[in-house]
Amino acid sequence: MAQSHATPSQDELKTLVGRAALQYVLPGEIVGVGTGSTVNKFIDALAAMKGQIKGAVSSSLASTERLLALGIPVFDTNEVAELSVYIDGADEIDGQGNMIKGGGAALTREKIVAAQSRQFVCIVDQSKLVQTLGKFPLPVEIIPMAARRLMRQFAAMGGQAQLRLRDGQPLLTDNGQNILDVRGLQISDPLAFESLVSQWPGVVTVGVFAFQRAQVCLLGTANGVRTLTF
Ligand code: 5RP
Repeated sequence: MAQSHATPSQDELKTLVGRAALQYVLPGEIVGVGTGSTVNKFIDALAAMKGQIKGAVSSSLASTERLLALGIPVFDTNEVAELSVYIDGADEIDGQGNMIKGGGAALTREKIVAAQSRQFVCIVDQSKLVQTLGKFPLPVEIIPMAARRLMRQFAAMGGQAQLRLRDGQPLLTDNGQNILDVRGLQISDPLAFESLVSQWPGVVTVGVFAFQRAQVCLLGTANGVRTLTF
C-alpha cells in the first residue's frame, strides 16, 4: 500500500489481505483456492511462493486459469483427500464466521473445496463484516427447471428471488446451472437456514456457508489487517 495517510481503497485492502493469507500456506502442501477479486490478489501473491508448494486445488475455471497462467500446478479435487487450508473471499461474514458466498457464481465448487479442507481462512475488506447475514442478495445455484417453484418458495419466506442474467441470458455456472439471487432475507440462524434450503428439490447449493464456516477471517481495515478467529 502507498505510504500515505489517505484512506486505503477497497482494492488496496484486498491486496493487503490477499498477501496476509500467505502465512497460512504451508510449504510442501497443496492449498485450496477460492474465487473472486480478493482471491485474485491472493493468487498473485502466491506466485512468489510457487516453488515452495506442490500446487493448488481450485474452486472455479477462472481461478484455475489464473493459477496456471502464473505457473502454479492445479490438482483435481478427487486427487487430493484433504487440504490443510482453503483461502477464499466472501460477500458477507458474521461474528461467528458464517458467510454468504456466490457473488461470483462459484459457490458450489467453493463449498466442495471448503468441505475437504481442515481450515477456512476468509479474506475480506471490512465492508463485508455484518451482524446478521442477508443484506447481500443470497446466491443459490439451481437446476433451471426448478426456477419458478424455488422463486415461489423464497417468496413464501419473505424473499424476492431473481434469475441472474449475463448478456440478457440466464447466467450459466461452471456446472452448467443457473443462479437465483434472493433479496429481503434476514438469516438469523444460518445453520438452520442452510439445512432447510439445501433440501429443496432443485437447489444445487445455497450460498450460506454455516456448515463450512470460516475458522479465521483476515479483515482489511484502514489500520491494517485484523485477524478474527471463530
Ligand atoms: C465467488 C465468491 C466470492 O468469494 C465473493 O463473491 C467475494 O468476491 P470478491 O472478493 O470479488 O468481493 O463467493 O463465488
